Amino acid sequence: MSSQKTSSPKKDPQKPALKKIAVIPGDGIGQEVIPQAVKVIEASGAPVQFTDFDWGADRYLRDGTSVPPDGFATLARDFDAILVGAFGDPRVKTNIHAKEILLGMRFKMDLYANVRPVRLLDAALCPLKGIEPKDIDFVVLRENTEGVYTDAGGVFKQGTPDEIATQEDINTRKGVERIIRYAFEYCKEHTKLDGSPRNKVLMCDKSNAMTHAGGLWQRVFKQVASEYPNISAQHMYVDALCMQMVRDPRQFDVIVTNNMFGDIITDLAAGLQGGLGMAASGNIHPGRASMFEPVHGSAPPIAGKNVANPFGAILTAAMMLAHLGMTKEAVRIEAAVLEAVRQRKTTVDIGGQLGTKEAGEWVCEKVSKG
Ligand code: NAD
Ligand code: IPM
Ligand code: MN
Repeated sequence: MSSQKTSSPKKDPQKPALKKIAVIPGDGIGQEVIPQAVKVIEASGAPVQFTDFDWGADRYLRDGTSVPPDGFATLARDFDAILVGAFGDPRVKTNIHAKEILLGMRFKMDLYANVRPVRLLDAALCPLKGIEPKDIDFVVLRENTEGVYTDAGGVFKQGTPDEIATQEDINTRKGVERIIRYAFEYCKEHTKLDGSPRNKVLMCDKSNAMTHAGGLWQRVFKQVASEYPNISAQHMYVDALCMQMVRDPRQFDVIVTNNMFGDIITDLAAGLQGGLGMAASGNIHPGRASMFEPVHGSAPPIAGKNVANPFGAILTAAMMLAHLGMTKEAVRIEAAVLEAVRQRKTTVDIGGQLGTKEAGEWVCEKVSKG
């Protein structure tokens, strides 16, 4: 099997140029949910051309390749966006391929803003009492290229009683400033789903214990916030934020945080939305080819059983189309998913009885009719 396969509709000189999408389903349920997302995009009639990439555990186990030598350069040069499933396979004990592909894209393509919207589509999906869809509509902006994810550090005297392991938390002025600025700009430019303006940016850290990195985040946050007098700038320690997210998620609007805390709080936030099967994300560097992926992983125990929820991947596809300027198609896809949730045309994790494919097909039908 070749590593790239392109499929595109016939060229029509009257039509706008097709946006080029690289599709990397990856491992486990990534291989089930991404085909559904692709089908839904096709049903929306969005002017795109897909190229499939076989990066993932199967290829790695076959020929030792996680990312071909020119892989990231090809993605950045030849594509408008990248649609990704998930990476992680129990056969690759170290998960090295996942690190090289997923963190490789984020780091080497410098996709510094991990945008993770948190929206409740239906009250029935939320484990909290008395919470309505209007109560949960916030976004987490996670720094995506630094922090402990740089994996700087090492092990000394391994296997002895004197063993030492260090894991550095790297925070650069440039990296912290650009994600904080991204958060204020995001707040200025985006409204909530009900059309009301966004007006709060909350920075989340652990500066009471991690004083060096936290100090930098605090200083940069205050400085950037002073440039946005119409936006309320707030702060919360990450432990308190976890408690508040469960106690009263209504208070959140735009949250900005580092790589590690962003990872953790977005799984917690996915719980508010109906679970990991419902959460979408984008890895963005403005002006460059950006990468879109559901928040969930490869979920090995449920892989290959046609039970994985495809809606996180489908909502991710809508996010990608919106990013590429195809707002009409994105809105139609989101409306179809909302309708599926309301009518319980869903997988079992969120209360329905459909399989992955059948839930995807239901959304396709709705999108092509709408
Ligand atoms: P996971 O997200 O794969 O699964 C966590 C739980 O959520 C499991 O109970 C799973 O069944 C459930 N779940 C996840 N997605 C679902 C969906 N679409 N529908 C229904 N249920 C769903 O996280 P994990 O179990 O911690 O990790 C499994 C593997 O995935 C690991 O190798 C991990 O490193 C990797 N991972 C990859 C990514 C990524 O590629 N973006 C993200 C997270 C985890
Ligand atoms: C995510 C995942 C990744 C992360 C893992 C697979 C490295 O959990 O995208 O949220 O920690 O960023
Ligand atoms: Mn995660």
